[in-house]
Amino acid sequence: MARPMIPAAYDGPTHDGPIGILDSGVGGLSVLRALRRELPHETYLYIADQAHLPYGPRPLEEIRLFASGITRFLLDHGAKIIVVACNAASAAGLHYLRETFPGVPFVGMEPAVKPAALATRSGVVGVLTTAATANGSLYASVKDRFAAGVTVHTVVCPELVLAVERGEITLEALRPLFDRAVAPILAEGVDQIVLACTHFPFAMEALSEYAGPGVSLIDPSPAIARQTHKVLEERALLRGEGEVAPPRLATTGDPDRFAALTTLLLTERMDIRPLLWDGDTLIAGNLRAGEA
Ligand code: DGL
Repeated sequence: MARPMIPAAYDGPTHDGPIGILDSGVGGLSVLRALRRELPHETYLYIADQAHLPYGPRPLEEIRLFASGITRFLLDHGAKIIVVACNAASAAGLHYLRETFPGVPFVGMEPAVKPAALATRSGVVGVLTTAATANGSLYASVKDRFAAGVTVHTVVCPELVLAVERGEITLEALRPLFDRAVAPILAEGVDQIVLACTHFPFAMEALSEYAGPGVSLIDPSPAIARQTHKVLEERALLRGEGEVAPPRLATTGDPDRFAALTTLLLTERMDIRPLLWDGDTLIAGNLRAGEA
């Protein structure tokens, strides 16, 4: 992994480049949705690495390698900032990405323990996440910094990632899973549940109905969108007003299945391009450099 990672043709971020977004699958669409609300005049390039989904159970070094390959591809296509719309990849690789791609702005996910700890009345909060995030040092440091005096129950729930990827987001479909994963922490008295995986906001309606009105769910994507806005503003990289092209999305998995999921999850059918891995390099099916 010692080879230089900044693509040779990359001159640094420019304001008319797209916002690059990466995730293992459709989860980052929850962040894309928030970004489009916050920054409607920007263009977006979204990469889903569904060939390697789920990221959560994988070793951190492996996730780091995937995130680096996708970042390199996004920069090759002119991305001016990389939003790591994946808690697992942020936990595994945000520091590494910043070191490997100097000068490139990154925004990553951080489990939203702080707002949960501030808002809790019961003093008990739940964090719904995947193994990579739960085992990473970022989560440990967030709990140390923000959860003093609060009991935090961490629930590793990879099945919910897979359910969202199958488009199973109704309470009817998810109830057995919630009975196993969520009921025990409700019994412990949690009144805040942090969604520390970007797939989980798509199950929010079902989870909210299941947990009842006394439990608040925390989706960090609006805060991530605001942070992206702030970083672009500070670096004079905002695009400004004008015509925008629709977001461009690509997957290393099945583009047709992904397109069907955009209709369900975003109520907007999007065109999805195919991508392939060649070792640790991503190859475009039909997404050419300069198209961004
Ligand atoms: N959506 C991702 C996250 O936020 C990853 C889920 C997975 O692939 O395990 O962690």
